[in-house]
Amino acid sequence: MSKKIKKKLLFTPGPLNTSDITKKNTLIDLGSRDDDFIRINKRLMSQLLKLGNASKGYVCLPIQGSGTFGLEATFSTLLNYKSKILILSNGVYGNRIINICKKIGKKFIPLKFNENSSMPIDKIKKILYKNKSISHVALVHCETSSGILNPLNEISLLCKKFKKKLIVDAMSSFGGISINIKKNNIDTLVSSANKCLEGIPGFSFSIIKKNSLSKSKNNANTLSLDLYEQWKGFQKNNQWRFTPPIQAIVALSSSLNQLKNEGGIINRNKRYKKNYFALLSGMKKMGFNCYLNENLHSPIIVSFNIPKNLDFNFLYTNLSKRGFVIYPGSITSQKTFRIGCIGNIHSKHIKMLLSAIKKIILKKRIKYLSN
Ligand SMILES: Cc1ncc(COP(=O)(O)O)c(C=O)c1O
Repeated sequence: MSKKIKKKLLFTPGPLNTSDITKKNTLIDLGSRDDDFIRINKRLMSQLLKLGNASKGYVCLPIQGSGTFGLEATFSTLLNYKSKILILSNGVYGNRIINICKKIGKKFIPLKFNENSSMPIDKIKKILYKNKSISHVALVHCETSSGILNPLNEISLLCKKFKKKLIVDAMSSFGGISINIKKNNIDTLVSSANKCLEGIPGFSFSIIKKNSLSKSKNNANTLSLDLYEQWKGFQKNNQWRFTPPIQAIVALSSSLNQLKNEGGIINRNKRYKKNYFALLSGMKKMGFNCYLNENLHSPIIVSFNIPKNLDFNFLYTNLSKRGFVIYPGSITSQKTFRIGCIGNIHSKHIKMLLSAIKKIILKKRIKYLSN
């Protein structure tokens, strides 16, 4: 590195702050076809299955790239020319699944809801009842654009009742919120190394029912994003078909040991909730308002309305100069910004962030934020 880059605390939806142990674990070169790497990779996949309560009847398949690559690989592989997927969307990431299915030429029904209200279960029920041709349902668990937590349990019950295969984008929730894949009869769950599992970016993974995957040969119209072929490759020699993100795999393996030491997902969820409550109360004290009603919030990320007398770029730049990175909003109807509660951060870091925000507001001589 030619110029020294200042260390910053990330309050974003990911990539996130990782621990020093995780970062240190990336300082290694391993051969992608070497026994050491194969062992680490194999162990990691079975740990991920256990974390989702999906050890039996499921397989965990990693794919190079960010979360979107994992989603594209999943929908490419699992949907065939007969499938029709109902895509439930109340934000940017639900819309991304719609875009993926459009691009890869799969049959889908988009069902869009307001970004700031809970998904209406009765409406979804009626559509599933009426449309017998629907084979799959896609749901984003935590819609990271607003921070809303969508009703996974209720929707998985509907899918069970109407015998639809449920595909869940749990990119920003897996590892931070307990999900029982088997009990909820989730057909496939997609997540990423660099969110609540607190690894570094480089790959995502899909936990898929073996029964569905075994019927997915030749569905994908792509060589590298074909999870059926990825599975066959692992079955043959336990190796990735194409260059794996070695350091990201080793880092996640270390992060999962740290997750275990923290007390598993239950304790991580408690830490994120503590961050969330500290954030919410501090921001409210300063006069900020949340975009969502609080009963809809996840402990993952919070969207705040941008007050009329505050310029977000001013706030962002000044926080960044002081070593704090927040995130722009992505709500279509309103000006918002986001602050994440996840990653290797604790409530003391939230308090540091809050005090920096307060100083910046006072510097601007804003006494009261106007909404
Ligand atoms: C719910 C959800 N789905 C999909 C994605 C896309 O992941 P990526 O940006 O890693 O491609 C994100 C990213 O934040 C997300 O939060």
